[in-house]
Amino acid sequence: MTTIAPEDTAREAVFDATVAADERIEPRDWMPDAYRSTLVRQIAQHAHSEIIGMQPEANWITRAPSLRRKAILMAKVQDEAGHGLYLYSAAETLGTSRDELLDKLHSGRQKYSSIFNYPTLTWADVGAIGWLVDGAAITNQVPLCRCSYGPYARAMVRVCKEESFHQRQGYELLLTLSRGTDAQHAMAQDAVNRWWWPSLMMFGPPDDESSHSAQSMAWKIKRHSNDELRQRFVDICVPQAEALGLTLPDPDLTWNDKRGHWEFGPIDWAEFREVLKGNGPCNEERISRRRQAHEEGAWVRDAAAAHAAKHGKASR
Ligand code: 3HC
Repeated sequence: MTTIAPEDTAREAVFDATVAADERIEPRDWMPDAYRSTLVRQIAQHAHSEIIGMQPEANWITRAPSLRRKAILMAKVQDEAGHGLYLYSAAETLGTSRDELLDKLHSGRQKYSSIFNYPTLTWADVGAIGWLVDGAAITNQVPLCRCSYGPYARAMVRVCKEESFHQRQGYELLLTLSRGTDAQHAMAQDAVNRWWWPSLMMFGPPDDESSHSAQSMAWKIKRHSNDELRQRFVDICVPQAEALGLTLPDPDLTWNDKRGHWEFGPIDWAEFREVLKGNGPCNEERISRRRQAHEEGAWVRDAAAAHAAKHGKASR
């Protein structure tokens, strides 16, 4: 339980009443330290995920099969960078700094989404990422538009608009391949086979193993549990896979009329825990590429700081 100094008791009552009334907590409002720190944790890791998430798809920009596809992919990867910047800005309103958060990412003290530790082996992976990964992100991020912390909720409104384009272009890419030659259909099916289960892991561990959910939901940071959103995503994807002419790699998928949901098979949580420990297929590659990009970008940050100092603007 959060310990509150006596003089904060009245302010805690205001905080609780604001959250209970579904109103927003803003940066200058009083908030429990634990509310602040869990927001920094979640928003920072969300931002890290956006920035690291640029790598798997950027891998295919130079190899896109047409100028149209290249332009779409470049726009998407650029959007992800922007999402990261919105989210770092939202985290900074809580009194942390971008430098501090990036240092925690680079030193492994903060995470990014497990999904980005998988390789993009073929062009179809770009479609599977758009359809499944961005689709899962939308399912997770739409409720965050109603998060009790104002800057995070507002960042999510714009992010979700752009995610819808990301998901749509991925779906269309897969549909084109699925309706193409046998080899193209097989490539699309192979990508879905590899990205389906890791996409379900994006929603976090099962509710009974989620260390943060109960408190995050009490503070209306999270509006639904990990399992609720995972189920919502499965229910969305099953009919879409049918329309794509592709099969989801889960023989246990069955419609449960009583529950009104698709039942699905067991998720390999041992794999999830291994990836979180850093033992996924691409963990080392992703984080060393990130550190290298940060080091190579030092001159830009220094130049911007020198320019700001000379022209008297706020530091970067
Ligand atoms: N990958 C990495 N870590 C994960 C994870 C995942 N898929 N799921 C859970 N975790 C971590 C949590 O961060 C927490 O560790 P920590 O205490 O060190 O932070 C631990 O596992 C326990 O999980 P909880 O469920 O208790 O943690 P949360 O309540 O934070 O729930 C979450 C996890 C659902 C991912 C939540 O943090 C969340 O909704 N975050 C915002 C959305 C987000 O970060 N999405 C990541 C993908 S972004 C993306 O896809 C961009 C798109 O453009 C491609």
